[in-house]
Amino acid sequence: MAKETATYIHGHHESVLRSHTWRTAENSAAYLLPSLRADHKVLDVGCGPGTITADLAAIVVEGHVTAVDHAEGILSKAAEHAEGRGIENIGFEVADVHDLRFEDDAFDVVHAHQVLQHVGNPVQALREMKRVTKPGGVVAVRDSDYAAFIWYPESKGLSEWLDLYERVARGNGGEPDAGRRLKSWALEAGFEEEQIEATSATWTFSTPEERDWWGGLWAERSLHSSFAEQAEGSGHATREELEAIARAWRNWGERADAWLMIPHGQLLCRV
Ligand SMILES: C[S@@+](CC[C@H](N)C(=O)[O-])C[C@H]1O[C@@H](n2cnc3c(N)ncnc32)[C@H](O)[C@@H]1O
Repeated sequence: MAKETATYIHGHHESVLRSHTWRTAENSAAYLLPSLRADHKVLDVGCGPGTITADLAAIVVEGHVTAVDHAEGILSKAAEHAEGRGIENIGFEVADVHDLRFEDDAFDVVHAHQVLQHVGNPVQALREMKRVTKPGGVVAVRDSDYAAFIWYPESKGLSEWLDLYERVARGNGGEPDAGRRLKSWALEAGFEEEQIEATSATWTFSTPEERDWWGGLWAERSLHSSFAEQAEGSGHATREELEAIARAWRNWGERADAWLMIPHGQLLCRV
């Protein structure tokens, strides 16, 4: 099967991983937890640095988690994280979600967190996730929806950041407003409406620590991560514009009244 192409916008710069390694099963996969059993075989697609993956493995203590990502480098970081926590029921492999190379009906649960927004063909990705899930199992996907982010106070720099992010993400072949589209993609991938439970959840950042962390890491991501390189390299932004965006994130983080809400669409699709 042909590999679909999309360039992963974030890359794995330290400022990106500072955000992704904050994630836990509790703050990022709560909708899935009631469906997990201790003996389940789980596939975590696009596992990144693997903090959610390790939490899932700690839940399926008598089962196993296979963690895949198309970027080989990040898998060693994920493996180190699991090892550091003494978690042994995880295996790591390079794989592309469009062409999973596992047998049909191989897993009880197939999970992807913040992955479908980055892939060239999310419908094909969901077809593959469905194919490798056992009858009676579940495909679980969750993605944010950038156009629905809400922040206070209003900020020209943050509005420019959002506009730039959406242009770069779409230029890369992704869909940054994925949260609202997940159900439509699942239907197109062959799930019946009765099989799909579509919900939403949010992250909110407002305390001094949260603002310092999020504002600081996005200031750095706007200057030093793959996003910055792609924005400048593709002609979507100048260095000066990126510097203005970084300042806007820092200014946001310094205000006691600042608040940010990130919404996610999430699906449990019963196979
Ligand atoms: C935003 S990160 C999410 C990582 C992790 N699931 C989490 O939430 O912490 C997206 C991950 O998907 C991976 N990815 C992107 N496109 C992929 C593809 N076509 N197949 C497999 N993995 C992919 C990236 O390398 C990256 O590690």
